[in-house]
Amino acid sequence: MGKEKKITLIIGGGIAAYKSLELIRLLQKECIEVIPILTKSAENFVTSLSLAAISKKKVYSDLFDLNDETEMGHIQLSRAADLVVVAPATANLIGKVANGLADDLASTLILATDKKVLLAPSMNVRMWNHPATLSNIKKLGEYGFLFVGPDKGDMACGEFGLGRMAEPSEIKDQIISNLKGNSLLKKKILVTSGPTVERIDPIRFISNNSSGLQGTAIANALVNLGAEVIFVTGPTNVPHPVGAKIIPIESAKDMHKAVFSNGPYDIAICAAAVSDWYVQNNSNRKIKKKDGATFPHISLKENPDILAELSKSKTRPSLVIGFAAETEQLTKNATEKLKSKGCDLIIANKIAKKSSPLGEENNEVTIIANTYIKKWTKMSKVEIGKKLSQLIIEYCHQ
Ligand SMILES: Cc1cc2nc3c(=O)[nH]c(=O)nc-3n(C[C@H](O)[C@H](O)[C@H](O)COP(=O)(O)O)c2cc1C
Repeated sequence: MGKEKKITLIIGGGIAAYKSLELIRLLQKECIEVIPILTKSAENFVTSLSLAAISKKKVYSDLFDLNDETEMGHIQLSRAADLVVVAPATANLIGKVANGLADDLASTLILATDKKVLLAPSMNVRMWNHPATLSNIKKLGEYGFLFVGPDKGDMACGEFGLGRMAEPSEIKDQIISNLKGNSLLKKKILVTSGPTVERIDPIRFISNNSSGLQGTAIANALVNLGAEVIFVTGPTNVPHPVGAKIIPIESAKDMHKAVFSNGPYDIAICAAAVSDWYVQNNSNRKIKKKDGATFPHISLKENPDILAELSKSKTRPSLVIGFAAETEQLTKNATEKLKSKGCDLIIANKIAKKSSPLGEENNEVTIIANTYIKKWTKMSKVEIGKKLSQLIIEYCHQ
């Protein structure tokens, strides 16, 4: 990747520590030099010898090593690379750093560095979902730490869920992206996500089955590239993107208020499935079924059009991206939407009776711009989020 770059790789004491060897190899192929740092616990999982042999570099582990301190002191070491990467980032290491603890070489280095820190969390699903870990992660996101993963999948302990370390190839891609300055640092980006809920009465509502998976994947990818993400989300069961500012809403009107009171934005991505209508005669009490009475009449009124308003606002983001879900004439309808809303890109989704992308892990989308139409092959929503982030970077550099 052009001029040789250097990273400091801190390896925490998790079961995924063995993957650090593969990560080093992948980085070497890209001419990225690696300075390896092992925590004391990590020495139980990989040896300094194998790390030194693969990286061809001295491996650091001890904060109080007189030789190391005279050769390259811990503060010097914290500044020696272009990026600090922690893989695997254990719950313990995450907890220490989030709380400003520095009781070993790894945590001291992370606290002392003047470089960006990319964390690849890796732990058991319950450890990841523990409120203490989630609150530490949130804090670190606010401090500007970058994240890659964790992924969902089978774990070494036999359980299944979120907490698996991202694959070395994915960590490598994220490292390269950050080293290339492919970042969206200092860009304030709005992402709307999920469905909206329009109340009929306190129990019933009108909504749709948007899962929030795509919006969340986009927000995660943008946070990982250093963007300040404002994530306005309707009710979903998907874990919120780590490191974003989360604004939960219920109705389209709530979403409108949240969007326009948190701007202006550099970029806006409207991935939420916003209800076009709200129930004008909604009731504060449960509407009762009465024998012989006529069926209650629901009067619908149009909701504010967030995408169109954003696109036409005085403080218009320099890039506005909308989503279109169409049951027929996908390209024609989505192109019309692009024009009528005044946005720059539309990500079009085909909704068919037998195959709807709503709630699915994978999707096949078409990108519609004023000057081109591109169909992306079927891929996971996580991949779409990453690919879209790269497209956004290209727009920013135009
Ligand atoms: C076999 C084994 C596997 C472990 N795997 C993990 C793991 O994947 N993630 C994690 O956060 N902790 C894991 N732990 C616990 C950590 O090793 C422990 O919290 C340790 O204090 C972490 O130290 P460090 O953060 O300084 O590396 C594991 C422990 C054992 C014995």
